[in-house]
Order: sequence, then structure tokens, then C-alpha cells
Amino acid sequence: MGAIQTRHSKLWFAGINGNWPLAAYELDELKEGLDDAAEYNPEFKNIQVKSLLSQFVAKPLSDLDASIKSKSPDAFKKSFDLLSAACNGCHAAAGRAFISIKRPTTVPVTNQRFLPPADR
Ligand code: HEC
Repeated sequence: MGAIQTRHSKLWFAGINGNWPLAAYELDELKEGLDDAAEYNPEFKNIQVKSLLSQFVAKPLSDLDASIKSKSPDAFKKSFDLLSAACNGCHAAAGRAFISIKRPTTVPVTNQRFLPPADR
């Protein structure tokens, strides 16, 4: 989940900076991370990871994908918040309500450019 947390944060800074190719890439990586979690730990500590995943994050992920394709900052922010709520929904369902995800306020790394090339 640590890698997923970093993807989530990078996705935010790519999206709010209008770097749509990077946002699409980070979203793909985030999906892969979640898929791997479901594949390698379908039942982790009695938590039905696979079924929780489809229950909580499938819709927010497809909304985010659409917002990135339409390059809409407002739709992006809205669906990003829905994704964070979905992360938290699954945490709560897994008895981990104390793990609470929100919009990041500072970049996760300082050695990567989030602005699109034209704006650097
Ligand atoms: C399938 C349900 C599920 C979904 C969806 C999910 N998580 Fe988690 N997450 C868990 C579980 C279960 C744990 C606790 C793992 C453990 O007990 O070791 C966890 C732990 C975490 C942690 C704690 C790591 C730490 O050590 O502080 C973070 C951060 C996290 N998740 C981020 C996210 C983010 C960001 C998303 C959404 C993009 C997300 N998770 C979506 C189930 C989920």
C-alpha cells in the first residue's frame, strides 16, 4: 500500500498541473498496484481484498480515467476525492478506518517535474 500511496499523491500533482499524460500513467500504475494486491493477497488477514476492490474502487477509477481523457480539472478533482473516499471505504470495511487518505498538500518527491513540458 505504500507504493499505492505514492501513486495517489503523484496522480494528484500531475492532474492539478494539467500534465494529463503523466496523470494517465500514474493512474495506470495505481491500478496495477491495486490489481497486484488483489492477485497476490486475495484474502489478506481474513479480508476479502478482491471483492472489496471491485466494490469500492472500480467506479472511481473509471471516473478518474474519463476526467483525465477529457482534460477537465474540475472533474479530475471531484473524481480524485471520490477515489480517496473509496480508499477509506475499503479501509473501514477491512477494520482499518484509522488509515485515512486525503488530498496531498506537498509533492511526494522533489526530484520530478509535475508541470507539463510547455509550462516548465
Ligand atoms: C481492497 C481494500 C483496499 C483498498 C481499495 C485500498 N486499501 Fe489501503 N489498505 C488496505 C488494507 C487491508 C490495509 C492494511 C494492510 C495491513 O494490515 O498490513 C491498507 C493499508 C494502507 C495504508 C497504510 C500503510 C502504512 O503503513 O501506513 C495506506 C497508506 C493505504 N492503504 C493507502 C491506500 C490508498 C491511497 C488507497 C486508494 C488509492 C487504498 N489504500 C485503497 C486495503 C485497501
